[in-house]
Amino acid sequence: MTQPSAKPVASVAEIRKTFLDFFAAKGHTVVASSPLVPGNDPTLMFTNSGMVQFKDVFLGTDKRSYVRAASVQACLRAGGKHNDLENVGYTARHHTFFEMLGNWSFGDYFKRESLKWAWELLTEVYKLPAERLLATVYAEDDEAYDIWTKEIGLPADRVIRIGDNKGGRYKSDNFWMMADTGPCGPCSEIFYDHGDHIPGGPPGSPDEDGDRFIEIWNNVFMQFEMAEDGSVTPLPAPCVDTGMGLERLAAILQGVHSNYEIDIFDALIKAAARETGCTDLGNPSLRVIADHVRATSFLVSDGVIPSNEGRGYVQRRIVRRAIRHGYKLGQKTPFFHKLVPDLVALMGEAYPNLAANAQRITEVLKAEEERFYETLENGMQILDAALADGAQVLPGEVAFKLHDTYGFPLDLSNDVCRERGLGVDEAGFAAAMERQKAQARAAGKFKMDKALDYSGAGNEFVGYEQLQQQSKVVGLFLDGVAVAELKSGQSGVVVLDSTPFYAESGGQVGDQGVLTSGSARFAVADTQKIKADVFGHHGQLETGTLAVGDHVEAVVDADLRFATVRNHSATHLMHKALREVLGAHVQQKGSLVTPERTRFDFAHNAPVSDDEIRQIEAIVNAEILSNAAAQARVMDIESAQQTGAMMLFGEKYGETVRVLDIGSSRELCGGTHVQRTGDIGLFKVVAESGVAAGVRRIEAVTGANALAYLQSLESTVAQAAAALKAPAAELTHRIAQSQDQIKALEKEIAALKGKLASAQGDELIGQAVEVKGIKVLAAVLQGADAKVLRDTMDKLKDKLKTAAIVLAAVDGAKVQLAAGVTADSVAKVKAGELVNFVASQVGGKGGGKPDMAMAGGTDSSKLAEALASVPAWVAERA
Ligand code: ALA
Repeated sequence: MTQPSAKPVASVAEIRKTFLDFFAAKGHTVVASSPLVPGNDPTLMFTNSGMVQFKDVFLGTDKRSYVRAASVQACLRAGGKHNDLENVGYTARHHTFFEMLGNWSFGDYFKRESLKWAWELLTEVYKLPAERLLATVYAEDDEAYDIWTKEIGLPADRVIRIGDNKGGRYKSDNFWMMADTGPCGPCSEIFYDHGDHIPGGPPGSPDEDGDRFIEIWNNVFMQFEMAEDGSVTPLPAPCVDTGMGLERLAAILQGVHSNYEIDIFDALIKAAARETGCTDLGNPSLRVIADHVRATSFLVSDGVIPSNEGRGYVQRRIVRRAIRHGYKLGQKTPFFHKLVPDLVALMGEAYPNLAANAQRITEVLKAEEERFYETLENGMQILDAALADGAQVLPGEVAFKLHDTYGFPLDLSNDVCRERGLGVDEAGFAAAMERQKAQARAAGKFKMDKALDYSGAGNEFVGYEQLQQQSKVVGLFLDGVAVAELKSGQSGVVVLDSTPFYAESGGQVGDQGVLTSGSARFAVADTQKIKADVFGHHGQLETGTLAVGDHVEAVVDADLRFATVRNHSATHLMHKALREVLGAHVQQKGSLVTPERTRFDFAHNAPVSDDEIRQIEAIVNAEILSNAAAQARVMDIESAQQTGAMMLFGEKYGETVRVLDIGSSRELCGGTHVQRTGDIGLFKVVAESGVAAGVRRIEAVTGANALAYLQSLESTVAQAAAALKAPAAELTHRIAQSQDQIKALEKEIAALKGKLASAQGDELIGQAVEVKGIKVLAAVLQGADAKVLRDTMDKLKDKLKTAAIVLAAVDGAKVQLAAGVTADSVAKVKAGELVNFVASQVGGKGGGKPDMAMAGGTDSSKLAEALASVPAWVAERA
């Protein structure tokens, strides 16, 4: 077969438009692409298909004003249920990032319309030749089979039933699930036959994984919701969810076989070739780079930056995989970020958010590249060395070392090995990882708590309103094991039926305090969750005995708690102020609130300037001065969303949440807070730093800690003023003056040293001894530094003409050495060897060029002897 000829060549932009126009004309509402990070859905890593934004509509918990929709959705299939990362670069049709054309019916039309419209669009509008199309249906779906064969007229030999061939009813290729739970249903896939010149068999055949028959469009008949235990219940109404791969369709319409030959990829591959200097446009590494720049750029524009966990780690894996392929092409410095402008030129119009974030994307990718390039080369050497002796498998220990020390994600090592036809001992990798985790756990103080086996009821938490409570002991643990009683002096964990102690969560540390019962006094050093609603009070029984069933008075250390809440409430105000001053891209990446300070990590690409910090301080302190009351409301998650409260990407929230208003900030938060903003006292930023690529950290203090901080600054200033004998207000001026003075003195000293050395140099000329025609001089130069050594060396070389010279400067036990050999003698005597010969005798080493070398040493007591040995050493070589 040859490629069909009567086919219009359409650009990707035209293909998108044709699709949306077709379904709009059939009564569909055109909906914009949603972000790659699904809103508030912890079951899903990334938006992996067009239906993700409609998940709740299928489940019946969300309603839209329309029952038919169509979209072009940006999708990512990496690191989740649908993961194609490993295949990119190896096939003509796999991507991490791709665009999905989709149409939906929410309880409106069903199989018949869905399949007929798909056929109409493909054959009549896009004008694909009907004889090249095949369809699959779910094995038991006679209805879909009949629609294809009887109503659409596809010959029966081109409609293939695919069923339970993967073990288990719902594991079939023709049963689609978004994730392990959620809406799902049987589906019918449409395939295109690229022709018999390409290897591969039709769906269901043993060689179906070839590239000849390519699935282009999946029509899912959403009928069920799958629960965690694998059981399915019918959806409120049967729905349709379709998805067609834009790149695959474009390949057909543009008369090419591989997705990587379509217009967008053609341009990106050329850009990758330009940046890497690779001249073979068919090189698979260029395809990997082109694919990965799309995925990673879209991820950054949707708020995902490289990190070591969750979505950020998937992002890191993709970026590093791309960088490694660039490295393979010989690229030794950052290049990947330079493709961002090319991508924006190609896709920025269809995805305005991408264009708006272009600068930030470039910066984030560049920072990650710089970071990885620091370790990439060494890591590759280790990998190569581990495989050098013909090993068939990369040992797990090495893969782990590469991961842990050199920042090589496991799939990156896998990718390298796969290219060489080798494997990775993944079990060994997992074991090494587990060993390290176990060590880390053993080192952490309370980190084993989750393992405490407590099966009783949850405790009530009364600590929002009160700091004291009469409670009953319902559980005791000693060395991690449940006991009936604790004795005086023992350390353990106490569980109460109700407690005013806040257990660490949401970044706020656990409360401290005491539990007393008669003569028993248990000092609580920390409170940690054993389960979501079971708090463990960790500490030591200082006196008496404490038994399960005892009544105790539980008292939280109020000073510490108040200090903590001041910092927590200030964190909310600061988060809001950061977004006002730096922009809405500021997203919380982590926080720690202790009685001493708040530490807040957030996405932002540049250091926060002093001026910006001052603005943030001013905004927060103005909120404090307004002394507004804080308000906490408990409500269901949907109502909370409607209040516009700030929520964290990827955070798992329960069905009911706490919406907290402090000043003008509104966030979901289960923590404890001040009653009025004025309680915070004073807010002061004390540090700003970077913690990872694209993540900044601000540390701040409040209340008494802010006062203490200012007082300590004041006393530092006072001490400095006393030392300089100047009033505080003149400090900066006086310091500048002193620095000028120091510089002038340094200059003077350098000049004097030079003079001293040149006088000594003249004297030294007479000490040179002639060894086989070479003048050899080895001597100490008083008061010299490296520069003086070098200068004097040059002069002596000029004067002695044919010479080998060693000069030394001594500072206590430390020795600095310079060796110089005149050009006419370097063939016999090398300065580098000479300097090392001397240095090795005074406990050091060094190096340099044949005519000039420097070294250091640590034992000046051996210097005289070492210098005396030089003439003999030269004699052996001259
Ligand atoms: N959601 C379906 C898929 O991704 C259409 O295949």
